[in-house]
Amino acid sequence: MSMAALAHEGITVSKLHPHVGAEIIGVDLRHPLDEMSFEIIREAWNQHTVLVLRDQRIDDEQQVEFASRFGTLEETTFTVAADNPYIYKLSNVDDEGNVLPVGSKKRLFLDVNARWHTDSSFRPIPALGSILSARKVPAKEHGDTAFASMRVGWETLPDERKRALEGLVAVHDYSYSVGLFGDKLIPKSEMDSVPPVRHPLVRTHPPTGLGSLFVSGHIERIDGMPVEEGRALVAELIEWCTRPEYVYRHRWRQHDLVMWDNRCALHRATAIPATEPRLMHRATIAGEGPVA
Ligand code: SIN
Repeated sequence: MSMAALAHEGITVSKLHPHVGAEIIGVDLRHPLDEMSFEIIREAWNQHTVLVLRDQRIDDEQQVEFASRFGTLEETTFTVAADNPYIYKLSNVDDEGNVLPVGSKKRLFLDVNARWHTDSSFRPIPALGSILSARKVPAKEHGDTAFASMRVGWETLPDERKRALEGLVAVHDYSYSVGLFGDKLIPKSEMDSVPPVRHPLVRTHPPTGLGSLFVSGHIERIDGMPVEEGRALVAELIEWCTRPEYVYRHRWRQHDLVMWDNRCALHRATAIPATEPRLMHRATIAGEGPVA
C-alpha cells in the first residue's frame, strides 16, 4: 500500500512489537468507515496479525457492523456466553453485574481462554478473526491478553523440522479443552453441535500466501500418533511460537478494541480478575476453512 494511502484521512499504523501487533490511530468506529480507510485497516491486519484501536466507544451494533465488513460473522452457539448470537460476552459478571465467584461454572468457562488457542479451531470452519471490545476494564487486577504469531513460529523453525511437520493433521475437540476445566460447563446438547474436526497442522495464510503453524489449545491429538506424543508435540510447538520475546502482551484500557487474525495468531487471557468486573464483547468472523 502506498504512503499516500497510509496517510489517508490521517490514519497511521505503528508497530507495537517487532513480531506481532500494531496500533491504528485516527479511526472512529462509531461512524461507518469509507472504503479506503477500511482497506488500510485490512491491509495492516494482514501484515501485523493483531491490531489495537484505542478509545472506540462503540455499542454492540457498531461492533457487529464493523466486524461484518470482514466477512460473515460466526453465530455463538453457547448460551453461557451470549444473548446476541453475534456478540460473545466474555465477562466475569453475572446478569446482575456481580463478579462471578471463583469456581463458578461461567468463570471456569472463561478459564478455557487462559490456555494458548486460536478461536473456533474446533469448528469445521475455524474463525478468520476476532474483534474484542473492552467495555469494562479492571483498575487493579489487569486481565491482559497475550498474543503470538504462528506465522513467525513457522518461519523461525529449521527447514528439517518444517519438512517433518508438513502433512500432519490435528484433531481439534472443544469437549477436550473445556473438559480440562470441568465436566459439564456447557450442556451436552450444545457440545454435540461441535464434534471433533481435523485441520492441517501447517497452513497457508490466504491474504499473504505465507506459511503458518496452526496449533491451538483445542487440539486433542495428532492423527496417526499416540495421543500423548501428539499432545507433547502440540505443547512444544505452542511453546515455540510463544517464546517470551515473541509475545505481545496487551494491557487493556477502557474502550480499547483489539482484533486478531485467528488464521495465524495464538492468544490467551492471562488472568480473569477475581474481584473486579471485566466486561469484554467479542465479534467473531467466520473463515473460509483452513488452507493446507
Ligand atoms: C478470547 O480468548 O477470545 C478472549 C481473551 C480475553 O478475554 O482476554
